[in-house]
Amino acid sequence: MTATTLRTQVAIVGAGPAGLTLSCLLHNAGIESVVLENRSRRYVEERIRAGVLEQGTAEVLAAAGVGERMHREGIVHHGIHLQFAGERHRIPLSDLADGRAIVIYGQTEVVKDLIEARVDAGLDLRFDVADVSVHDIETERPRVRFSHEHRDFELECDAIVGADGFHGVCRPAIEQHLRIFSREYPFAWLGILAAAPPSSEELVYAHHERGFALLSLRSAERSRLYLQCAADERLDEWPDTRIWDELQCRVALDGWTLVEGAVLEKGITPMRSFVTEPMQHGRLFLAGDSAHIVPPTGAKGLNLAISDVTVLAEALVSSFTGGSRTGLAEYSRMCLRRVWRAEHFSYWMTTMLHRLGDDPFDSQLQLSQLRYIVSSEAAARTLAENYVGLPLGHRAATPGR
Ligand code: FAD
Ligand code: PHB
Repeated sequence: MTATTLRTQVAIVGAGPAGLTLSCLLHNAGIESVVLENRSRRYVEERIRAGVLEQGTAEVLAAAGVGERMHREGIVHHGIHLQFAGERHRIPLSDLADGRAIVIYGQTEVVKDLIEARVDAGLDLRFDVADVSVHDIETERPRVRFSHEHRDFELECDAIVGADGFHGVCRPAIEQHLRIFSREYPFAWLGILAAAPPSSEELVYAHHERGFALLSLRSAERSRLYLQCAADERLDEWPDTRIWDELQCRVALDGWTLVEGAVLEKGITPMRSFVTEPMQHGRLFLAGDSAHIVPPTGAKGLNLAISDVTVLAEALVSSFTGGSRTGLAEYSRMCLRRVWRAEHFSYWMTTMLHRLGDDPFDSQLQLSQLRYIVSSEAAARTLAENYVGLPLGHRAATPGR
């Protein structure tokens, strides 16, 4: 069977936050793209993941025209709590970071808004595609082959964007040109979505001798909670009663109660740090989780994905509209400075808050660091600035990085 040939300016592999946001930014600037996703629309819209948007991320989405529901339903937070040694301490993020805040709005909702905008505009977004592969990326005319609804296609384009997450096909296609940096952690997160009102108005990051716990939320009726567990843990070893008992123990505080509710969803997330350098080869550009992974403790993954595609959209638009092509050549360098800052912050939060093993030396160092953060404004400001997100300008590395 011969393949049908299609043509676009930018072929985007993956309809996660990175791919969808990029397609939206390009469309707003008059650049054509096709988005190819190997899962169903329903699967992509229901995959529960991130919940914390940096203010800069929320601003990018609003400026792109997909912020209306986020403004209505998102919850602005000005602080978080650190809990350790039986006490809870508030970190006033906005007071410490020039008034900047975070927005609690689920990744599922961000993705739904972006898909709706693209579908309403009648633009090409294909779910359930199969056998995606990238070709001729070192030429002026790269191509993506895929099949969809039992037909084979060849998509000719000027640039390909690999926004296909950590397990996608784009990064492996150029692996021989990349340098990989990575770190695995010997623990994971067990996360639940519960039909329970949040017990704390703001997020609580808890250090406990039995392991880390996190209280987050999605709305006035839905709590999102996480527990540190072993890296090889199986979900069937965690009936709901065991999850609640463990959460109750790790976040217990005199005079405060954790409200329980039906567990609507549960899953285990491995913890990994990973960076690929550079984030491009020829006419293939990697963005978001396909290029880098952070452990979720710093709430940075989705935010990094959005800042990558903000830089990439600008560079692509400039190259298509007769402006400079140096933006594209510099894409990776422009992103990596911010990526490494988020990598360090996520690693720091992770190693400060999780049970690392049986050595009491580690936990004494962690407690000392936590006490320092809640007693020194300089230390608290370091956490706050990184947590709310450094201004996008931080990405603009001076030559030599
Ligand atoms: P993805 O969301 O992984 O999207 C990639 C897309 O490509 C997927 O839809 C996938 O199906 C598709 N795809 C894969 N292979 C192919 C193929 N061969 N062909 C076509 N399509 C393909 N980040 C934060 O900023 N804040 C948080 O609070 C936060 N919390 C998190 C909590 C958890 C439990 C987890 C797991 C992650 C969290 N993250 C958080 C990280 C965040 O979810 C990710 O960084 C984000 O999803 C990255 O977006 P992306 O578009 O790069 O990749
Ligand atoms: C979430 O609400 O899913 C969440 C919040 C903070 C994190 C990670 C995940 O650090």
